[in-house]
Amino acid sequence: MEINRTPDLSVRLGDLSLRNPVIPASGCFGYGYVMTPFYDINCLGAISFKGTTLNPRFGNPLPRVAECEAGIINSVGLQNPGIDAVISDELPRMRAVYSGPIIANISGFSIDEYTECCRRIDGEKQVEIIELNVSCPNVHGGGMSFGTSCESVAEVVRAVKAVAKTPLYVKLSPNVTDIVSIARAAEEAGADGLCLINTLLGMRIDTRTRRPVVANTMGGFSGRAIFPVALRMVWQVCREVSIPVIGCGGVESAADVIEMMMAGASAVEVGTANIINPCACRDIIAELPAKMDELGINSLSDLKIK
Ligand SMILES: Cc1cc2nc3c(=O)[nH]c(=O)nc-3n(C[C@H](O)[C@H](O)[C@H](O)COP(=O)(O)O)c2cc1C
Repeated sequence: MEINRTPDLSVRLGDLSLRNPVIPASGCFGYGYVMTPFYDINCLGAISFKGTTLNPRFGNPLPRVAECEAGIINSVGLQNPGIDAVISDELPRMRAVYSGPIIANISGFSIDEYTECCRRIDGEKQVEIIELNVSCPNVHGGGMSFGTSCESVAEVVRAVKAVAKTPLYVKLSPNVTDIVSIARAAEEAGADGLCLINTLLGMRIDTRTRRPVVANTMGGFSGRAIFPVALRMVWQVCREVSIPVIGCGGVESAADVIEMMMAGASAVEVGTANIINPCACRDIIAELPAKMDELGINSLSDLKIK
């Protein structure tokens, strides 16, 4: 008699248990509810919502997207309705169709803005993780980004930890020379976890108009092409920190999820793939059991290679 085994897809992020490791990445899935015409989003491990700031932002001028081979460049510029509207309007819409863990992706232009946003979202129902996006320009620091210096990462992490009880994950920028030292600085300052990577700074020029394709000249490059870079950074960081790491960058299949977890990731975020195929995350979750079976994997915990 054939026994129909359902493999265990569950993973842990610290004390939080996820039904599976697949999480739509911030900025590529809105607040989740817009995706319900495509599938039941309750199949997801968690959802990281669009980067939210203290005040509403229209974002950067159009055009904001350049299509590339195996990826896209975007310069959306954190368009969002602001933290209060997210709490009063977006979260209730999200909770009406989704009962799983929510990851609140928070951005800011100053330490005060980060801490105020995190203070307001802290304790909101279903918000199990605050994900601090430290790849935004730091106006207090002369335009440098918080995520590109150990000191500024540590400063923002310490400030947020002082006001918010929700586990704090820091989303790291790959646009640095030594991602390991930044990861260590975040851990030492009290981060409960990390997420990496955000987009790589890129640019395209329209050769007919002789103008940059995106109005902001440069933008963030994401998608399939960045997978090996993301995997390399996850691997390097996971060897040096003891907090959980969410791997992100170019993931578009169950095989990619498993590879990212072999590099040390505890869960995986999927971004650009959702823009190409709105059902990407659902399809990856559906593919996982067969891929695990093919590779002789019974459980997704402890896949990390030595
Ligand atoms: C259109 C777009 C908007 C994004 N917005 C955010 C954001 O608001 N906050 C954030 O932390 N990352 C944002 N990202 C980065 C993604 O969450 C992800 O880290 C990155 O795209 C790499 O993953 P991918 O190759 O699977 O897309 C955005 C990416 C894209 C393509």
